[in-house]
Amino acid sequence: MEADRILVDGRVATMEPGPDAYGTVAGGGAAVALAGERIAWVGPMDDLPTGLGRAERIPLDGRWVTPGLVDCHTHLVHGGDRAREFELRLEGASYEELARAGGGILSTVRATRAASEGELVAGALPRLDALIAEGATTVEVKSGYGLTPDDEAKMLRAARRLGRERPVGIRTTLLAAHALPPEFAGDPDGYVDLCCGPILDAVAAEGLADAVDAFCDRIAFTRAQTERVFAAARARGLPVKLHAEQLSNLGGAALAAAMGALSADHLEHLDDPGAAAMAAAGTVAVLLPGAFYFLRETKLPPVEILRRLGVPIAISTDLNPGSSPLSSPLLAMNMACTLFRLTPAEALTGMTRNAARALGLGDEIGTIAPGKRADLAIWEVERPGELAYRIGFNPLWRRLWSGR
Ligand code: NIG
Ligand code: FE
Repeated sequence: MEADRILVDGRVATMEPGPDAYGTVAGGGAAVALAGERIAWVGPMDDLPTGLGRAERIPLDGRWVTPGLVDCHTHLVHGGDRAREFELRLEGASYEELARAGGGILSTVRATRAASEGELVAGALPRLDALIAEGATTVEVKSGYGLTPDDEAKMLRAARRLGRERPVGIRTTLLAAHALPPEFAGDPDGYVDLCCGPILDAVAAEGLADAVDAFCDRIAFTRAQTERVFAAARARGLPVKLHAEQLSNLGGAALAAAMGALSADHLEHLDDPGAAAMAAAGTVAVLLPGAFYFLRETKLPPVEILRRLGVPIAISTDLNPGSSPLSSPLLAMNMACTLFRLTPAEALTGMTRNAARALGLGDEIGTIAPGKRADLAIWEVERPGELAYRIGFNPLWRRLWSGR
C-alpha cells in the first residue's frame, strides 16, 4: 500500500454503516492514511500496515475525524437580501402572501438579474466561507434567481467559479423552474417551455449543471409542469431532484421517485404514499430545518415514517436569502435534532453519507473509506454527538479537501 501522510492517534467516525451509528473505528486510537487526494487506509493504530515508514505522520492527540460535511441543498449564489421581508413577516405577512404579491423569490430575481457574474461571486464567497469554516468540503449550489437563459447561465457560471476560488467541491443544479418570472405572468406553460428548451440548452452547451431541480408547489409549478422539466432533463442525461411538499402536497415526491430522482427536498407535507414511493425508488429525503424554523412552520416532516420505511435522510442548510439565511451546517444539524427529533448520529449521517448520496456522489465522498476522496473534518470534541449539540460554537480543528 502507498501513502504519503498518516493521521495518527485520532478517533475516527467513518460514517460507514456498521454496528455503531457513527461507523467508529474500534480500539484505543485510530489512523487514516492518505495517498495524494485519496484515502488509502483507515483502521485501528494497532493494525497500521507496515511499510509506511516514509509517510509523514500527523498526530491528532485523540481528536475526532469525520467525513467532510456535505451541504447538498443551497441557493448561496444570489443578489440582494430579504431582510425587509423578514420584518414584514414578523409583522404578520406570510411567505406565501409575499410571494403572491411579487416579492419573495421574485425580489431576489430582480437583484440577481441586475448583478454581474463577478458581483454574484463576490457576494457568495463570504457565505461559502462560513460553510467551509464549519467543515464543509462539498456544497451544492442552485440557480433559480435568473429565470432567463442568460441569467441562469450567469448564476451557474458564478457557482462553478466558487469552486476555483476555494478548496471545496461545488455541485451545480439548474433550478429554472423555481418561480414564474413577471414576463410570463399568466403563461406558466410558456415559461416551462423556456425551461425545457432554451434555458436547458444554454446551460447544457457549457456543461454548467450537474443536475436539474424544480419547485413543485401551489405557489410555483404543478406536477404536470414538473414532469415536463424532468423529462427534458433526463433526455439530456441530467439527474433530477425536487423541492417537494414544502407548503402544500401536490404529490411531487411520488413523481420525483417515479422518475428516479436523486432526492426530494423539504417534505413537511409528505404523505404515506409519497414516502413509500421514495422508499421503493431509493430517493433521498433532504430535510431542511432552517427553512422550517425561519418560516416558523408548524407542520413537521414525517420523520418516523421515513425511518420506518428506510428512506435515507439527508440534512442541509438550504442557505438562501428568503426562507433560510442559514450558513451554519452545524446549526442545521442541531435544528434537525431539536425540531425534527433526529438523533445526533442521524444528523451527522444526513450531512455526510446521505447528503453525498443525494448528490449522486455516494461512491466518491461522504464516508471515510479506502479509495474515496480525502475530504475530512477534524474536530476538538470528546464524542461525535457533540457536533449536533452546541449552538453557535465551532469545534473544527482542521479540514482536508482532496487531501489538502
Ligand atoms: O428552498 N422553496 C423554494 N425555494 C427556496 C426558497 C427560495 C427563496 O425564498 O428565495 C427554499 O426554501
Ligand atoms: Fe431550496
